[in-house]
Amino acid sequence: MAHVCSWRFVRTFDNFFRLWFHNPEKLFGAYVKSGMTVLDIGCGAGFASIGLAKLVGAQGTVVSADLQPEMLEIVKKRAEKQGVAERIQFHQCTADAIGVEKKFDFINAFWMVHEVPDTQHFLNEVRSYLHPKAKFLVAEPKFHVSDKKFDEMLEIAGQVGLEEHARPKIRFSKAVVLNAALSD
Ligand SMILES: C[S@@+](CC[C@H](N)C(=O)[O-])C[C@H]1O[C@@H](n2cnc3c(N)ncnc32)[C@H](O)[C@@H]1O
Repeated sequence: MAHVCSWRFVRTFDNFFRLWFHNPEKLFGAYVKSGMTVLDIGCGAGFASIGLAKLVGAQGTVVSADLQPEMLEIVKKRAEKQGVAERIQFHQCTADAIGVEKKFDFINAFWMVHEVPDTQHFLNEVRSYLHPKAKFLVAEPKFHVSDKKFDEMLEIAGQVGLEEHARPKIRFSKAVVLNAALSD
């Protein structure tokens, strides 16, 4: 079973300083517009969820999903402080299933795919949640996930019908933007 980052540890890397090197507008602004429905899977303490909630605006929705209820509580408190909690729905996953019955315009999986026990099952589930033109960003921690592991993940993505759209440069990360293959 892959190691899951504990909620006790998450604020050491998702705090005020995170926004200096992971600015949500720069990371997601090309893909996320006002009114969209977005999933932040493995949201952790929610730097991305909160940034995404600002990008989708009052007419949009962000689903913040995580295994750990403590993570969802942290995101909720941060979102309330920033006045965006009403745009966010909170969803607790199991390790084996994301389990959201929705389609999304954008899905974010930031520094979390390496923690998922079954990559193929996970990516297949994500693909089923994508609207035809939706984008799916995967960013993995550069010093933790080898090139080989990242390439294996990409190969599995191809097998489940996800194709590469772009390779954005994201600090401390290996990243790819995927979309559902046209033949789907
Ligand atoms: C390293 S943290 C990253 C959190 C956040 N995305 C960030 O970039 O700060 C990984 C997160 O993914 C969550 N996670 C791990 N496996 C998961 C799964 N199968 N489904 C949903 N969340 C998962 C963990 O609980 C943790 O909050």
